[in-house]
Amino acid sequence: CGIVGYIGHQEAYSILIKGLHRLEYRGYDSAGVAIINPDYRLNIYKHTGKVAELESFCRAKDISGTIGIAHTRWATHGEPSDINAHPHSSTNGRIAIVHNGTIENYSILKQALQQHGCEFNSQTDTEVIVKLIEYIQNENNCTLLDAVREALHQIVGAYAIAVIDSDNPDTIITARKSSPLVIGIGEGETFIASDASPIIEYTNKVVYLRDNEIAIITRNRPLKVITTDNEESKIDIQTLRMSVSQLEKGGYPHFMLKEIFEQTDTIFDCIRGRVVANGTAIKLSGVNDHPDRFINAGRILIVACGTSWHAGLIGARLIENFARIPTRVEYASEFRYANPVIRPDDVVIAISQSGETADTLAAIRLAKEAGAFVYGICNAVGSSIARETDTGTYIHVGPEIGVASTKAFTGQVTVLTMLALAIGQLKGTISSEQIAEVGRSILRLPDLIAETLELNPQIEKLSAIYTYVHNFLYLGRGYNYPNALEGALKLKEISYIHAEGYPAAEMKHGPIALIDKEMPTVVIAPDDELHEKVISNIQQVKARGGSVIAIVTKGDTTIPAMADHVLEIPRVPEALSPIIAAIPLQLLAYHIAIMKGCNVDMPRNLAKSVTVE
Ligand code: G6P
Repeated sequence: CGIVGYIGHQEAYSILIKGLHRLEYRGYDSAGVAIINPDYRLNIYKHTGKVAELESFCRAKDISGTIGIAHTRWATHGEPSDINAHPHSSTNGRIAIVHNGTIENYSILKQALQQHGCEFNSQTDTEVIVKLIEYIQNENNCTLLDAVREALHQIVGAYAIAVIDSDNPDTIITARKSSPLVIGIGEGETFIASDASPIIEYTNKVVYLRDNEIAIITRNRPLKVITTDNEESKIDIQTLRMSVSQLEKGGYPHFMLKEIFEQTDTIFDCIRGRVVANGTAIKLSGVNDHPDRFINAGRILIVACGTSWHAGLIGARLIENFARIPTRVEYASEFRYANPVIRPDDVVIAISQSGETADTLAAIRLAKEAGAFVYGICNAVGSSIARETDTGTYIHVGPEIGVASTKAFTGQVTVLTMLALAIGQLKGTISSEQIAEVGRSILRLPDLIAETLELNPQIEKLSAIYTYVHNFLYLGRGYNYPNALEGALKLKEISYIHAEGYPAAEMKHGPIALIDKEMPTVVIAPDDELHEKVISNIQQVKARGGSVIAIVTKGDTTIPAMADHVLEIPRVPEALSPIIAAIPLQLLAYHIAIMKGCNVDMPRNLAKSVTVE
């Protein structure tokens, strides 16, 4: 879910709506705004569907006022509906709240409030918070701030909230625990948002609220931040280095296509200053500043979700190969509840584009408690995971808006490649020639990606042939097995075609039963150590009447003779092949989804940043 808030001298409505559009990637089931008008009346408008539908709904309504909060929702408790949309309000209609997160004890609190005669309109956990605040305020005859503070003591779970009260039209109260919240400090105006994207066009001065902090934002007064225990907190104002153009489509029809094509630049930014001395050495401060942690590491545990988990699978192979440290990859959601063995000499690597994924955040907290050294690989600068890890490396690919991750994936794999080389260099498990071989090619990645992107028209044509199939199989081996998983995930996320990724050789233990002329197979088959083996896997598919789309190294003469379609990628050292092979997989998913008429930037039911369990 995404939260926006504004208080200042401008009309709040258009700032809130624009902010919601920027945050729409976080959820788009329903949206709403609450604004206090100049007559101290709290107007709340909400609507199922995207922000544009809310805008149409608000036409001809009273949207005046210079203080307001707004929300775009990704449903957790209660179906997407007008009633369940945020903001939610108190029974007296004076207090409004927006909330991102989940309240675990909401049903107990709800029952208790119902016993006191409180009535509920929605099925959400959020309505419980606002009704609880109102109840406390009435019972204790206290200020809104005290009521919010007390309510936060009673609720268990994750939240970022913003509250306004028409009796206090000069104040927004906002608080966070485990869900992100950024405050933008302007001249006589203050903004709040789930991330910096709605704020950047107004100010680059931001404060990231920490867990268990409450900010009191009062018109024409300096920001005040306290803890839920009522202790004053130090305010750390940071300067954002983000530009508005990074948040716009820049002439592309979709963010996803823009982000695929941007990879020439994003990889350049990702490797800048890190692959040095003509590719013969790797400089990662996260590793160089903590050599002992890596030299003495008993194991490396990688935790992540979704696409980041796929990057982790590639990373584990790279680390074992170059640094010879036993490495395991876990879904963060499984790891956190598995009672895992974590040792003080473990290095735990958390990979997360947003840096806010609730399960990944919980996994690193567990690892820290157990004394492990925690390394973050994030994109969002200043995000919760970036702040809570001991050290790490930003992928620096710029804001990723399309819900299907593309440039973040290649950035993550690039950082993991550099990390594996950096640890190997430190431990002496790889020779300088090996580093140089991969390092020099890393420096060429932007050009190699540009060359790979030339496949776009060919992939567009190819996609027309496969638009209406119902199932796809993706196969790869070695470094490209996780790429097969990622290719399948990309396709299913945005085109709703069922797709499965498999290690190519495992196909004969199950998926082969599915193969017929209706089910195409994408095979990632660069010219590497396992090339011959993958060729026999292709033959097994062909022998059963399946069609094959093969991603091969330029100059391959064997596979083109047997595959139905071939996509040629430039030759690179084996370790870098997943970065290059990811590009045609992204383009294939994009074009098929477009041809099916799908909304690639906002696929149904998904959200980009999952800040709930
Ligand atoms: C969601 C997104 C995915 C992403 C995953 C993990 O499911 O739709 O694209 O890979 O979360 O997100 P993170 O921000 O932790 O990488």
